[in-house]
This record gives sequence, C-alpha cells and structure tokens, in this order.
Amino acid sequence: MASRIVLSIVGNRPQYIKAAIVSRAVRAVAGEVLLDTGQHYDHELAGVFYDELDLPRPDIELGVGSASHARQTAAMLTGIAAAIAEVTPQVVLVYGDTNSTLAGALAAAKLNVPVAHVEAGLRSFDRRMPEEVNRVLTDHVASLLFCPTDSAVANLAREGIVAGVVQTGDVMFDLAMATLTPEREETVLAQYGLRPGGYVLATAHRPATTDEPAHLEAVLSALGALPETVIFPAHPRTAASIERFGLAELVTPNVRLSGPIGYTESLALTKNARVVATDSGGLQKEAYFFAVPCVTMRDSSEWVETIQSGWNVLVGTDREALAAALAEPPRGAQHPAFYGRGDAGGRLAVALDAFLTRTETGAGAPGGHVEPLQPDSIQATEDDRP
Ligand code: UD1
Repeated sequence: MASRIVLSIVGNRPQYIKAAIVSRAVRAVAGEVLLDTGQHYDHELAGVFYDELDLPRPDIELGVGSASHARQTAAMLTGIAAAIAEVTPQVVLVYGDTNSTLAGALAAAKLNVPVAHVEAGLRSFDRRMPEEVNRVLTDHVASLLFCPTDSAVANLAREGIVAGVVQTGDVMFDLAMATLTPEREETVLAQYGLRPGGYVLATAHRPATTDEPAHLEAVLSALGALPETVIFPAHPRTAASIERFGLAELVTPNVRLSGPIGYTESLALTKNARVVATDSGGLQKEAYFFAVPCVTMRDSSEWVETIQSGWNVLVGTDREALAAALAEPPRGAQHPAFYGRGDAGGRLAVALDAFLTRTETGAGAPGGHVEPLQPDSIQATEDDRP
C-alpha cells in the first residue's frame, strides 16, 4: 500500500466541505497528497474550513486566485500537471464541477493517470452554466465515477458511461448528519436571536444572479418585502455587486446581510429556516436533508430529486415568482432518502481500494483504461444500498 498515492484536488468552498469525508476515506486505503489550487483564497471561503472541519493541510498550494475562466483554468492545468509529474499518483481525485475540478481531470487525463470523480453524473442540462461543462467533460475522462444518486448513475448511462460507475450516496449527507448537534443548533440560533421556523435563509453567488443588476434587484426587493428576518450570508462577489450597482438601499432592515459563514453555522441556519432561497447547488441539497422547503433562483438544477419530490422549486430571478414561492414554499408529500444513509465515505473507500488493487495486479494499467469494474465487485449488497 506504500506505493499507493492518490492526488486529491481541492480549491473551492464546497470541495473543502466534501474533503472532510472523502479525505478520510482515501487515507483509509491509500496515501493522499492534497493539492489546493487556490481558486478560493479569502479566509472565509477557504481557510475557515480547514480549521473548522479539521482537514489535513494541503501538501501543494498553487495560489492561482481569480481570473477569467480561461486564465484560471490554464494556470491550474500547468500547476497540476507539474504536481502529477512530481508525485506520480496512481489516481487523481477531483470533486464536483468547478474550474478546479476540470483542470485536475484534464491534467490527469493528458498524462494518462486515471481520474476519480466525486459527485459524478449530475446534470442540469444547461450548457450555459460553466459548471455543467465542467461536469460533462470531467465525467467523460474519469475512470472511477462516484455518483451520489440513482439519477446520476442513469445520466451517465445515457451518455454511454457505465464502466467504473459506483453509486456511493452523497458525501455531503454523511457530513451533515455527522456534524450538526442539537447543542450547536441552539447556540447558533441564540447567537442570531432567531427561533426555529421564524426566518428565511438566503444566499446568492452565481454570475447569473449577481452580475446582472436587474436580477440582483429583483432578489433583494423580494427578500426586502418579506415580513420576517432574512439571514443573507453573501459571497464576496455578491457584496461587491450590491455596492457596484448602487443597490445598498434595497437591503431593508429585515435583511441581515453578512460575509460568508462557517459550515456548521450554515447547517444550523438551514435546518431551522422556514424556507431557504438560494442559487447554490449544495444548499438546495442541504435544505432537502433537513426537509426544509427550498426556492431556487435558477432556471435549472442538477439536484433534480429535490424538485421532483416537491421540496424545491425553480423561480429563476423573477421577482413575482420568487415572492410567490417564498410566501407558499414547496413542501413534498414524501421525503425519500435519495442521498443515502450517511455511509457514502465508506462505500467510496471500498470502491477506491478495489480500483487500486486492480491497477496493482495488472488488471488495468495506469492510463485511464482499467478494465471496467463490475458494479458487484465494488458495491455492497443490494440490501445494503440506500
Ligand atoms: C466557484 C465555482 C462555483 C461554486 C463556487 C462555490 C467555478 C466556475 N465556479 O464560483 O461552481 O458554486 O465556487 O463557492 O469554478 N472571489 C473572492 N474571494 C475568493 C474567491 C473569489 O472575492 O476567495 C471573487 C472574485 O471577485 C472572483 C469571483 O469571486 O472573481 C468569482 O470567483 P470564482 O472562483 O471564479 O468563482 P465562484 O463564483 O467563487
């Protein structure tokens, strides 16, 4: 096992969160070298999670920072390729759908190192979203695809990807269930002076919401018209857009705008909100974990189960649609366990171990084209599945 090295790539807020589960799983079956691209660099988007979630410190930091997609991705590609040459990993592991994900996957594929993709198979079917492009491209060069849901497995099958596909359940569900205690909830609510169900939690950070003054104005005015408190922890870009477009006067006294907040604080505020309004992917899912209605300020979602089950509704950035959904939030009749049982990390470790064993025993050579893993050889029994 000493020669087994997995090079894991992180760089954005949601990836640090997922790494809290996945890094542990990787380290149970291999040595891990952690590379941080530095796509996120502000403490409250990056460093805070290392501390709060007790993540191992990165072994390699690229410090890429913000730039156009082309420049940012290119800088990451160069840095990650150099790291691969130095570390000579058996697998490069990437998370989710950001530019850091795509850069890691592409650098590895070009150097014939197998790619493992955590959160594989998600599709919003909207190619205007940079994340959708990142997802599709990453999945098509990956050898090991860890899917959070059955629909993600089905999406991959439709694109002809069946080899190396493992339904693990959702690692963010594992972490949410393992992290939030009733004591922490109480403390957070007391700090904010809130009672359960007595406020709305809102976030917005996507260019489609924040870079268009009319869209941001619609969101702020719908939130401002609510009768209750709105907790609005904003991405630095959102705060900058409010300033730049001169929309500060639309932030009414009931809207408590702040900088980004920590992970457990966010979970506690999600679980106890009357309704969540967001354009984030992760938050739609976290609201569902806690059976809290979600109103999504986007035209599409990759977390289709939350919508199909009636707990989440898409309203774009239309003020009236947003106001109507906030007044009468979606509440599904049932709440199926789409995201597993909180054992996704364990399943991922078993599958990764099996994959590494196959490469070691020559069933497949490094190069991304390991013989297809049969689902039965790497998954728990049918009964065990979520
Ligand atoms: C990125 C991901 C998005 C993910 C989000 C999670 C891509 C294409 N997008 O979006 O999918 O949902 O992370 O939070 O990879 N900025 C700061 N401080 C930072 C980082 C960024 O102020 O630490 C500002 C800069 O003005 C920057 C802008 O945010 O230009 C956008 O940053 P970027 O890394 O391009 O994407 P995010 O919007 O953070």
